Amino acid sequence: MQDAKELVRKINAKEAIVGICGLGYVGLPLVRAFTAKGFKVMGFDIDEKKIVKLNAGESYIEHLDFKSLKAHIDGGRFIPTTDFKRIGEPDVILIAVPTPLNETREPDLGPVRDTSEQISRGLRKSQLIILESTTYPGTTDEVVKPILEKSGLKAGTDFFLAYSPEREDPGNPKFETTTIPKVVGAYDPGSLAASKAVYEAIIGQVVEVSSMAAAELSKILENTFRAVNIALVNELKLLCLKMNIDVWEVIDAAATKPFGFMPFYPGPGLGGHCIPIDPFYLTWKAREYDFQTRFIELAGDINTMMPYHVIDHVLYAMNDRGKPLKGSKILVLGVAYKADVDDVRESPALKIIELLQQRGAEVTFSDPHISFIGRGRHYNLNMTGVPLNEDVLRSADAALILTAHKKFDYELISRSSKLVLDTRNAMKAVKNRDNIVKL
Ligand SMILES: NC(=O)c1ccc[n+]([C@@H]2O[C@H](COP(=O)([O-])OP(=O)(O)OC[C@H]3O[C@@H](n4cnc5c(N)ncnc54)[C@H](O)[C@@H]3O)[C@@H](O)[C@H]2O)c1
Repeated sequence: MQDAKELVRKINAKEAIVGICGLGYVGLPLVRAFTAKGFKVMGFDIDEKKIVKLNAGESYIEHLDFKSLKAHIDGGRFIPTTDFKRIGEPDVILIAVPTPLNETREPDLGPVRDTSEQISRGLRKSQLIILESTTYPGTTDEVVKPILEKSGLKAGTDFFLAYSPEREDPGNPKFETTTIPKVVGAYDPGSLAASKAVYEAIIGQVVEVSSMAAAELSKILENTFRAVNIALVNELKLLCLKMNIDVWEVIDAAATKPFGFMPFYPGPGLGGHCIPIDPFYLTWKAREYDFQTRFIELAGDINTMMPYHVIDHVLYAMNDRGKPLKGSKILVLGVAYKADVDDVRESPALKIIELLQQRGAEVTFSDPHISFIGRGRHYNLNMTGVPLNEDVLRSADAALILTAHKKFDYELISRSSKLVLDTRNAMKAVKNRDNIVKL
């Protein structure tokens, strides 16, 4: 059994070098947090373009401050690189690479495996490896550990190993990496001591659990909780549309209960890199135990169908005005998966645009955070956004709000549009409501 004392000492003295694999939405805030506390950080990524941009101080994620990252690069405190031969240099390595689903909606651990292979080739004694990517319980032990041990070194004996889920919420001004409590589960007591020291260096509250699997599952529970509750209000919205009841009014009324209720709001479907994906990692793993995760499946069914319901209700609303969808000009407002971010991953807007186009509508979009939608995992839309102004709004037959960005001028939208189709209750504060249909 290896002793963690020396590594903990190095971490506490900020002599430890921190390596971060994956310089995206999760990895870069971690870089920021560790450099801010005086650590030297090495950032590893396979995407050469990102490294070039980082070195040039050019942004590729809107809400992050690339200028200060560049200052850390110039000061020698942050070294972004694609050179995995240097993986032996950091004392601590955090893995924050993507964990998507493949075409058949099964976990795609390709990036986690690839990074683990890269680390394994340069692994040295006493390094601490922490997986942060969201994944099913058992991944760190069953997938990452055997790959790392190909190095000839043993977890718990030669190197430290842990799992700690990431809870980053891009665009949320109330919380950031250092103020969100961090759950940690480790392979052995030495790994736990070292991991706690790492996170206590940057985060106010570190919550230890008894195993890596418990930490892995805690993250899936958090996101399943969201997926299920969003599905619940999405289903309720569909009923409310039939009953002519305003679902948002109902939710806000229920939310005045001071205990036992937490508001979730309906929308055009689930989006982002986490909520539509993570629960299905558990569904896949549960099959190994002859177990069906029925809540997850049901929530997935409801949430996946929401873009189709939006299309139905767009058709009804246009029909009421004697307009067929075919040939109509629809201006989509907001294509990011949630408000105030520049991320279109898994955004329901992409599906809705595709469905509108298939039905013969002429679709344009405007999004203050996104100027172009190119090729994604499932779509190849190749669309350039238009600026939002009176002329653009007047020339559309309907403005369809899919993301309630704060930057949108909702008074202007209401004033200049023939018809506003609002899937987010974004127009709630607008006074003139004659041309607004909630759907
Ligand atoms: N984005 C979020 O808000 C969020 C929140 C909580 C958890 N997570 C989880 O964190 C993980 C990372 O998500 P993200 O949003 O930061 O992804 P991202 O796509 O923004 O960034 C991942 C980075 O990893 C790089 N990469 C891919 N394969 C690699 C490899 N083999 N070696 C090194 N780098 C590699 C990519 O080039 C990319 O720069 C995922 O598991 C995700 O589910 C994300």
